Amino acid sequence: MPISRRDFLLAASAGTCLAATAIPSSANAATPRSRRLRIAHLTDIHLQPELQAARGLATCFAHVQTRPVATSGGVAGDGGDGSPPDLIITGGDTIMDAFEADMARTKLQWELWRKVKADHCGIEMHSVVGNHDVWGWARAKAGTTGDEPLYGKRWVCDEFGRDLPYTSFDRGGWHIVLIDSIFPDEQRYIGRVDEAQWDWLERDLAAIDPATPVILFSHMPILSATPLVVAGPSALGPAGIQVPGKFMHVDGDRFQNLFSRRRNIKACASGHMHLIEQLDYQGVRYLCNGAVSAGWWKGQNRDTDFGYAVVDLFDDGTVERRYVPYGWTAAT
Ligand SMILES: [Fe+2]
Repeated sequence: MPISRRDFLLAASAGTCLAATAIPSSANAATPRSRRLRIAHLTDIHLQPELQAARGLATCFAHVQTRPVATSGGVAGDGGDGSPPDLIITGGDTIMDAFEADMARTKLQWELWRKVKADHCGIEMHSVVGNHDVWGWARAKAGTTGDEPLYGKRWVCDEFGRDLPYTSFDRGGWHIVLIDSIFPDEQRYIGRVDEAQWDWLERDLAAIDPATPVILFSHMPILSATPLVVAGPSALGPAGIQVPGKFMHVDGDRFQNLFSRRRNIKACASGHMHLIEQLDYQGVRYLCNGAVSAGWWKGQNRDTDFGYAVVDLFDDGTVERRYVPYGWTAAT
């Protein structure tokens, strides 16, 4: 007897239901993922004496430490506990600007950074270097010669207590790499790494257990669509759309090659664009994590509120991110 279309659909529907009811039993048998580390990613702070920025940053630190958030959707392993982060990673552009600033102005901003941090932050912190943290590369404006002992990245490295602008460490079963994205070119700076840092990165990753999941933090995105949004019509050239190297790493293909060789690299988190984005490509999650200063403290930047990202790292190598506005509004 021929089966009618209606009967066929009912049978197919019933089969689907049977299959659907079968899934949870096998899923239940699997071990749920467990959160191993919670990071508060505070990027693009642009701390300055103006615009009540110090009070804004203190408010942000207080929010991070006392207003815990749960990951979205009650992720297994989170337990809905909404616990505070294990550590803070600042994502670069810590101070408003040292790139074009003279020594006195740069000193003032770093002193303010040290004070707000000492007074309001009790959580372990690691920091990425941003373009605005580099002192005096715009020599004419900054009044620098290039011979100053603190010129370029030396000053920010001293502030961060490191010899080099890049570093790595292990926490919660994850390997965390802080990349230095900022290199000079005739356009002032460009997003990439140099050969010395690349050699270091290859050696650093080769030294860890290949089963250890890795997350990279860089100031400029390694891969992102946000530069197309920001560049707008100016990105259109005779050959099509061009992404300016001042927005995003120009050596992304080199990173893609690395990621294809090392499948334990699970995520890349960045700042710089003051926009929020999640992009999944070939097993790597790319997160652009807004800005503490939003539109440089004067208001939102497009749709990005004053905020920070809570990045949860799980034992199965997965990563979840939630952007958290901390309740700041622009000073009037
Ligand atoms: Fe910035």
